[in-house]
Amino acid sequence: MASDSVQVIQYLVDTRPLWPKATKTKDLENEAARALALLTDEEKTKVLRYYFVADAKMSLTSHLLKHWVVARYANVPWWDTKLTRDDKTKPVYVDPTTGKQPVAFNVSHQAGLVALVAVAGYSTTKENGETGKGEEVNIGTDIVCTSERRTRDHRVIDTEGWGKFVDMHADVFGRGEARYLKGDLLSTQPGLPSLARGDEITDFKLRCFYTLWCLREAYVKMTGDALLAPWLRDLEFRRFRAPVGGLEFGQVREEEEGREGEVVMDQEVWFRGERVVDARIVMRSLGEDYMTCTAVRTPVRKEDALGWKVGPFEFLEMETVLGDAEARLG
Ligand SMILES: CC(C)(COP(=O)(O)OP(=O)(O)OC[C@H]1O[C@@H](n2cnc3c(N)ncnc32)[C@H](O)[C@@H]1OP(=O)(O)O)[C@@H](O)C(=O)NCCC(=O)NCCS
Repeated sequence: MASDSVQVIQYLVDTRPLWPKATKTKDLENEAARALALLTDEEKTKVLRYYFVADAKMSLTSHLLKHWVVARYANVPWWDTKLTRDDKTKPVYVDPTTGKQPVAFNVSHQAGLVALVAVAGYSTTKENGETGKGEEVNIGTDIVCTSERRTRDHRVIDTEGWGKFVDMHADVFGRGEARYLKGDLLSTQPGLPSLARGDEITDFKLRCFYTLWCLREAYVKMTGDALLAPWLRDLEFRRFRAPVGGLEFGQVREEEEGREGEVVMDQEVWFRGERVVDARIVMRSLGEDYMTCTAVRTPVRKEDALGWKVGPFEFLEMETVLGDAEARLG
């Protein structure tokens, strides 16, 4: 039996307009004093160590969101939301009395945006009434921005060639994937305008490349192995396609007419040559350049997560997080 009060949580915080007077990381000590006061000393030190203020802002927001999701959805007093890492180094919160994770979460940050995904209120109950222990739900997310490295990517592709570009990243792709990116990509991927030339073709290839990247990162972050997974090259996504760029800077619900292409969830996962259907994986565009992927699974009862509605992400205001956190300081 599975609990019926499951919440799948997906939020984005746009850090770009936050703390506008902070032009150097050190400025955050004053400008973001209210937010920093909610972190542990160790977390504060890590945030203030970033060279670029944009990275420090994302790290600060990421730390805040991890504490916030535990405080808010597991009702844990703010200073008891102690974050640790599991045996695969994935950040987690473990309830010290039960040894369980009441909220499974994951974060990702890229080009000013911080994504938070979480599942709260899920547990499996065996016939004898015993509730499941440990890793009942695994969740991972990744956010990519195709334009962030566009100039650099184009330069490398123009000078070295597309094949070389793919090869430079081949160690994080499955064996068949690297071959596919270099081979049949253009003839099999939908959406390339028939008159596309030069830069337009490169942008199209890059969007497919980052789609695959995003799918893989979300999956390996779900498992907790991240890029250190010894089986990384045995994992393969097939029949994936890039979500169509969104006209607005927000995500659509699947049922929104005419915008279905902005959500893709029928890609296939193959492992050592066998198809696996063990996770709900949803890829979405966010505006023209960003894409998000969320992967979630419930290993004890696979069908639970496979039936969950995942996304869209909603924007969350920093003010809401701060106000909520301060109310939970106890
Ligand atoms: C660690 C890794 C998941 C980061 O991914 P990324 O695409 O560079 O960055 P993202 O913004 O998507 O994700 C970063 C978040 O992943 C989370 N994360 C870290 N280790 C993780 C793991 N093993 N599994 C799942 N999530 C993990 C963290 O919460 C981190 O954010 P935070 O530092 O603000 O808490 C991945 O790049 C990787 O495996 N890198 C190489 C291995 C490595 O350096 N591992 C170090 C682990 S301590």
